[in-house]
Amino acid sequence: MTSKNSGNVTRHKSLVGREDRERLHGHKGAVVWFTGLSASGKSTVSHLVEKKLHAMGCSTYVFDGDNVRHGLCGDLGFSPEDRTENIRRIGEMVHLFVDAGIIALTAFISPFRADRRTVESIVGADRFIEIFVDCPLAECIRRDPKGMYARALNGEIPDFTGISSPYEPPESPAVVIRSDREDFDAAAERVVRHMLAEGLVDARKGR
Ligand code: ADX
Repeated sequence: MTSKNSGNVTRHKSLVGREDRERLHGHKGAVVWFTGLSASGKSTVSHLVEKKLHAMGCSTYVFDGDNVRHGLCGDLGFSPEDRTENIRRIGEMVHLFVDAGIIALTAFISPFRADRRTVESIVGADRFIEIFVDCPLAECIRRDPKGMYARALNGEIPDFTGISSPYEPPESPAVVIRSDREDFDAAAERVVRHMLAEGLVDARKGR
């Protein structure tokens, strides 16, 4: 999307490019995009992946509701339009991180396929790794760490994903995590192995 006055803004040519920064970091800039229902385990697995990548010497950052919905997207709610705008802004932000040569990990429900495709097209398909944290709704309702499913089922929270707002699962995610069956650490390890296999992180790095 073009902003209202971006036509008058000229880009300054950078003297240091993404490839220079990537060489310095020793890995590629990328987005590891976790999607799934609330309480599916996105945040837990994304932080474990970050810990593993960090231990390998990678430059990483995790974005989730805690650091985005209070600030950058603090004006947005949970209507379909607001969720689309939430994900678009996050997409633009992680694009800058990819350009900075950093591995950005994101943990947002991001329930709509079209919005996830928007991010993929912003950052580039070769830098976008979609991870589906697949957890049955009944198990998410059982976990209910913030008591939000109980409130949503009582009709107290409108547009709640899985209850009164849809969740569209990815069609071809790079990795699928069944968080009700698989150990979180094992799942995180599979994500890291996928990144090594894709050449986003060098196999010699810290292992
Ligand atoms: S997204 O749909 O725009 O990607 P996001 O991941 O930022 O959502 O925020 C989801 C978190 O906000 C949930 O884990 C939950 O704690 C809280 N939340 C509050 N209202 C809703 C709602 N109507 N639907 C889903 N999550 C909600």
